[in-house]
Amino acid sequence: MLTVALPKGRIAEETLEIFRKIFKTPFLFEDRKLIMQEGDFKFLMVRNQDIPVYVMNGAADIGVVGLDVLEEHKPDVLRLLDLKIGKCRVCVGVKEGEELDYNVSELKVATKMANISRNYFSAKATPLKIIKLYGSIELAPLVGLSDVIVDVVETGATMKKNGLKVAETIMHSSAHLIANKNSFIIKKDEIISLYEKIKTRI
Ligand code: PRP
Repeated sequence: MLTVALPKGRIAEETLEIFRKIFKTPFLFEDRKLIMQEGDFKFLMVRNQDIPVYVMNGAADIGVVGLDVLEEHKPDVLRLLDLKIGKCRVCVGVKEGEELDYNVSELKVATKMANISRNYFSAKATPLKIIKLYGSIELAPLVGLSDVIVDVVETGATMKKNGLKVAETIMHSSAHLIANKNSFIIKKDEIISLYEKIKTRI
């Protein structure tokens, strides 16, 4: 039995679709249910940012999570495979009509991704103030909370709708399959077998 942590939303659905095709099983969560057991798998429906916590602590053997989350939190897990779904970018966003100005005494950056932001801007030698938010990041520059944002851009619709534009791209991201290090020893055959099956499907 393998426990798999999936991020709520489209990536969970696309991952389950891969599993359905491989195992010919209609893996399906009941409405609002956060756990599902079917065949040799138990699936957990988890918030994106929380996936590494479940996998690192062994509450899940494997998980699916964005590269952006892995880079932000650097969890002690094994990175097995790029699933090539959930593709997006981590970008610096500024107000439409403005440019990203590094010659300021302090650049105020609103973001969920404090570490990625700090790393990126440290190379630019600009004094930084990170304003840590948990969502609706695009709002921050509109009300003067920050000069810029660092956030995930998928279609670009959220930025556009809120009068922002991409100034710079920090990194590209997609969903990755990760494993708990201990599970990878104890359940090595199961995990490798699943890895091989998924690999031929992507
Ligand atoms: C992300 C991100 C943006 C939006 C970008 O939020 O924070 O707001 O998606 O997508 P777009 O470029 O296609 O408009 P998400 O919906 O993942 O929610 P979250 O804030 O809970 O992470």
